[in-house]
Amino acid sequence: MSNYLEVQGLRVSYERDIEILRGVNLVARQSSTTVIIGPNGAGKSTFLKGLAGVAPVTGGEVRLLGQRVDGLTSVQLVGKGIAFVPQEASVFGQMTVDENLRLGGWTIRGNRSLIDQRVETCLQLFDSIKNFRGRKAGDLSGGQQKLVEIARGLVSEPSLLLLDEPTAGLSPIMVKEVYEQLAELRSKAPVTIVLVEQNVREALAVADHVYSLSMGMNDVDGSSEEITGKLDSIVRGWMSKTGTGGSSA
Ligand SMILES: Nc1ncnc2c1ncn2[C@@H]1O[C@H](COP(=O)(O)OP(=O)(O)OP(=O)(O)O)[C@@H](O)[C@H]1O
Ligand SMILES: [Mg+2]
Repeated sequence: MSNYLEVQGLRVSYERDIEILRGVNLVARQSSTTVIIGPNGAGKSTFLKGLAGVAPVTGGEVRLLGQRVDGLTSVQLVGKGIAFVPQEASVFGQMTVDENLRLGGWTIRGNRSLIDQRVETCLQLFDSIKNFRGRKAGDLSGGQQKLVEIARGLVSEPSLLLLDEPTAGLSPIMVKEVYEQLAELRSKAPVTIVLVEQNVREALAVADHVYSLSMGMNDVDGSSEEITGKLDSIVRGWMSKTGTGGSSA
């Protein structure tokens, strides 16, 4: 399988002279699942935002199947097949679940019957929301709203799915639901998934490759098995670098 995503030296600054990402590299093979881990503030969300075109990229190169896409707007990147589900809540609370999912069909907005079909398919993926299509999304629980966001991201049938902490705040049953559906999705569609996770053990179970970021830079990376074996020392390394515990380096 070829590389679907190649990121070289990605730099992001929200404010002048303050570089949050300081040259991050990542490669994801087509139809693989890549998991990004790292301590709070490492720049994990910023990395996904840079790829999705919603954070100011100041340097580096991003390629999809060899084609440069850095510098494109977020809307153009959606057109290239990227779907981004951010860490912060993003449902439209006053709209119904169905209407929220329809927004995910923006790239196929001219084709109503295709949108109907995709919305139906994506809704049925998650038992916890499939019967709530007519409810106001804001009335759902936080975990159910997260599933609406993930389902909405899938309506475009993305070729690259960027998920930022998709299971944060979810009950163990919903976490299982999300990971089962991601596995199912990958078995059916040629989607490349890059996800940030705090639930490291769950994420490692679905990952092909894992990257650890620390202080806006690459830390270590390796296969899921390699990283699982080194996890304790990786976490100790974060603590010493960020001063959140252990001895400072
Ligand atoms: N919009 C912004 N403007 C300025 N600084 C920001 C902005 N967003 C994030 N930052 C800063 O960038 C750094 C990285 O933040 P980011 O959200 O990418 O970290 P993270 O690894 O996702 O952390 P967490 O695990 O807590 O979600 C932090 O120091 C944060 O304060
Ligand atoms: Mg984050």
